[in-house]
Amino acid sequence: MEFFAKSGAPPRQRTSCAIVGIYDNGKLSSPAAQMDEAGKHLISKVVSQGDIRGKLGHSLLLTQAPGLGCQRILLVGCGAKKSFDLRKYFQATENAAKALAHTSVKDAISYLPLQLVDTADPYYLARLGVDAVASACYRFSETKSGKQRKPSLVKFGLAMSGRAEQKRAEQGCVDGAAIAAGQALTRDLGNLPANICNPSYLVKTAKHLAANNKRLELKVETETQMKRLGMGALLSVTSGSEQPAKLIVLRYRGASARTKPYVLVGKGITFDTGGISLKPAPAMDEMKFDMCGAASVLGTLLAVTTLKLPINVVGVVPACENMPGGLATRPGDVVTSMSGKTIEILNTDAEGRLILCDALTYARRFHPHVIIDVATLTGACVIALGSHLTGLMSKDPELANDLLDAGRAAADRAWQLPLDDEYAEQLKSNFADMANVGGREGGAITAASFLSRFTEGLRWAHLDIAGTAWKSGANKGATGRPVPLLTEFLIRRSRNASGAH
Ligand code: BES
Ligand code: MN
Ligand code: ZN
Repeated sequence: MEFFAKSGAPPRQRTSCAIVGIYDNGKLSSPAAQMDEAGKHLISKVVSQGDIRGKLGHSLLLTQAPGLGCQRILLVGCGAKKSFDLRKYFQATENAAKALAHTSVKDAISYLPLQLVDTADPYYLARLGVDAVASACYRFSETKSGKQRKPSLVKFGLAMSGRAEQKRAEQGCVDGAAIAAGQALTRDLGNLPANICNPSYLVKTAKHLAANNKRLELKVETETQMKRLGMGALLSVTSGSEQPAKLIVLRYRGASARTKPYVLVGKGITFDTGGISLKPAPAMDEMKFDMCGAASVLGTLLAVTTLKLPINVVGVVPACENMPGGLATRPGDVVTSMSGKTIEILNTDAEGRLILCDALTYARRFHPHVIIDVATLTGACVIALGSHLTGLMSKDPELANDLLDAGRAAADRAWQLPLDDEYAEQLKSNFADMANVGGREGGAITAASFLSRFTEGLRWAHLDIAGTAWKSGANKGATGRPVPLLTEFLIRRSRNASGAH
């Protein structure tokens, strides 16, 4: 898909389809009114007939546009005018793209940005517009036989009020397209079943990324090397599986070798049966998504390398399966992590923290400027926040705020949960330095508290994406989150601290 920004008078512009907004009760947005005036009042006629009222979620395609530069007009419901904001704009744009994806329309221009151009930054109008269209047109068909129809839409324009706005919107299109590509990679990896997307498949994907970018270097640690490094926690998770575990390390060099890197660590459990603490059967298929943290690290690296951001980034992905084989870890087993700390594994289903703690310890060798781990870590986080916001935990208030701000700007929000020392008490063990579970209470926080014991002295944040990484139900599938949040955070850190682009 190609995205571009445009300025000029809406009625004159040539396109297969002009997208204009209708507010509640059929009130025309100002671009709609302009088109109506120049276009023989077709729009007001359709609205007065009651064919569209302007509810968010509704749309109507007019296949004629007399007197106008466009061939068709897509009317899109925007809801109440006074509550039309960036979030509604995102939804309306997504709805428009979904409607067009069912047609043969190949190119379109959206005038929805003009409805907010006085209050919102053109950069974000463009970027979120690109994000909305790309995600609406995303299809996963790798595991279906026969030819699947892809949306015809290949060119999408975002209308801006003037030249200066257009210029900023162009940067938004570039960044948005890079983020969308990263997000699509993350979704593809998440959606692939575990019999295809195993640890070695993630290695293959990483190889592919590195082969396409000179500044990206791949190193893969095998189980032999993990043993040498003393990664007893990670190895205890993979011991019940036939698939060899991998530790994927991707180094992107966008700045001088002396500049400390941003390190992203992603949970890569390609399938989580729970191990000997076996999960119940219902919805267990969704545990193929347990590598979405890993996938989002790879997706973010794709976006960062595409944008050639002038920073150093290291992606660290511990990848393995959690299976109940004959050599599987038993509840009560005590293992020694790479840090030297011992762990009593009371529940083999709390495996994410076990692979992450060794990956976090390993990552110290990169002397991270900041280290962020991303993981589908706890069902408790889904209970706490539902599936709309990612759980954020950190002992560094500045880092936490920057991540929250990035999430808000990128329409990929997070919410901070506390990480006070009291929670650590729940991890006490009679037989080891700590247990791997802390009971049902505050489960998302005790998981983060476990990780915090391996990140002492580091500027660290933890993102629990158990609720946000995929959707369940009829539209089951990976979301590609939190690629927009992470990329926004890194863009801000690399261009300037204030967040202006
Ligand atoms: N991958 C799961 C977390 C999860 C559960 C994500 C449901 C999305 C939906 C993780 O490995 C896990 O099993 N966590 C346990 C931890 C518990 C045993 C302390 C959980 O949340 O039940
Ligand atoms: Mn588990
Ligand atoms: Zn898991």
